Amino acid sequence: MLAWTTASNSDLSAGGSPPGPVDSEGEVLRKLRESPLHTLEALRREFGSIVRFPVGGVPGYLVSDPRLIKQVLETDAAHYRKGRAQRTGTALLGQGLLASEGELHRIRRAQLMPAFGRRHFPGYAPAIARLATEMTDRWSDGDEVRIYPEMRNLSLRIISLIAFDFDPSVGVTSLGNAVADVVGPGNPATALFSDGPASLAGEDRSRVLRARAVIDDFANGIVARWKRNEGRSTPLRDALVGPDPSHPALDDSSIEEEVRTVLIAGHQTLTAALVWSLSLLSRNPPVADQVEREVDEALRTLPIGQFDARRFGYSIAFVHEVLRLYPPVWMLSRKPIDLRPLGGYIIPPEAEIMISPWLVHRDPRNFTHPLDCIPARWESGTEEATFIPFGLGPRGCIAASHSISEVTLVLAIVCHRWSVHLAPGSSPEPIAATTLLARNDGAVTISLRG
Ligand code: HEM
Repeated sequence: MLAWTTASNSDLSAGGSPPGPVDSEGEVLRKLRESPLHTLEALRREFGSIVRFPVGGVPGYLVSDPRLIKQVLETDAAHYRKGRAQRTGTALLGQGLLASEGELHRIRRAQLMPAFGRRHFPGYAPAIARLATEMTDRWSDGDEVRIYPEMRNLSLRIISLIAFDFDPSVGVTSLGNAVADVVGPGNPATALFSDGPASLAGEDRSRVLRARAVIDDFANGIVARWKRNEGRSTPLRDALVGPDPSHPALDDSSIEEEVRTVLIAGHQTLTAALVWSLSLLSRNPPVADQVEREVDEALRTLPIGQFDARRFGYSIAFVHEVLRLYPPVWMLSRKPIDLRPLGGYIIPPEAEIMISPWLVHRDPRNFTHPLDCIPARWESGTEEATFIPFGLGPRGCIAASHSISEVTLVLAIVCHRWSVHLAPGSSPEPIAATTLLARNDGAVTISLRG
């Protein structure tokens, strides 16, 4: 149990500040860096739904009341920008959708939105099914499978194939390593909870620059293929280049920014969702039995690449439960652009607002038995402000509905043939890196289903 030195509102400021610890900034940040998730939980438990403490020399506000979160992310979204954790992580994306702000963001989002419409998913399903089947075909009964590298390669290939019509099968591991190296320093636990501005030196800096070059080469290659009109068109290419590659809808560097954005925003999150899906199944045999029954029934009559969401109701509910218990993006951050009222307090423009889906999803005021995996809780629909794995509002994930279908389809292919069991040394305790990672690469042992 973490101990805090506490202060009441009136101790902190005459104007009335939210409560928070009066430990030194260094002490609070040390706890947040060493054990971010437990420390956030302890802060919420001790001080309530809006907690103030300094981060990197500015006031930080940890907000976990769903009403206030909706206000920041949705109702008052025009008054906020991305905060430090996300700005650092997205520095390499230029003005790509994840990082751009204001009017440019609004225009780009409208431009890209059609590429992520639900209607495209049936066209993607056969490719996803093929790649997932190739992966499981390499497994043998009794194997210990390190899910993280498997799922990272799979999600990179899925995203690249459906978004860019390019399968980076041979270079997939070095591309995955490059993305991890580049976004690593944007990890909220280091970017937000460091003592000062995050900067890289020496070997770290050279590694990030080398990684950045790998990603730039990849993005340049995709844009060059598109401009030569090579390969098949994809909805993303249609949105970014348009029908005539000699007169593209955007200039080359903007197209590249969006290619990098989709690659980076998509694959780490998708990887984490897949890893935690298998990890959670391995720890919940009755839930796994029910997923397997549903998948067997659906695939008795459906061809494997023909995804029909109506046949996978329980599996989709399970995926919601995965994203609730292990939200890949465990921390969002925002900065107000002007003095902002929030929860009865006035938040100054230099402040960092921190919103943790992890905290919101595990709060007993939002979900009954919050630590248990209960897919049935989703049968009556979703409570939008208490379920925020994709964020909310105008900056919410553009690929939310695709992502749920993608994870469900990969799960169906895995569970149709394999049962997953917790491997020795695996632990459900996540590592709060850029996304939530599993210890021991989320290893599971697998057995062929009879
Ligand atoms: C389970 C998988 C995923 C999760 C949990 C997830 C989560 C998120 C979250 C939380 C945000 C909002 C960040 C904020 O408000 O600051 C976001 C934004 C975004 N995501 Fe996802 N994401 C997932 C998959 C994907 C995929 C597969 C793609 C692309 C292929 C993608 C592309 C994007 C983009 C472009 C944005 C920026 C949207 C904007 O600012 O307008 N995401 N995602």
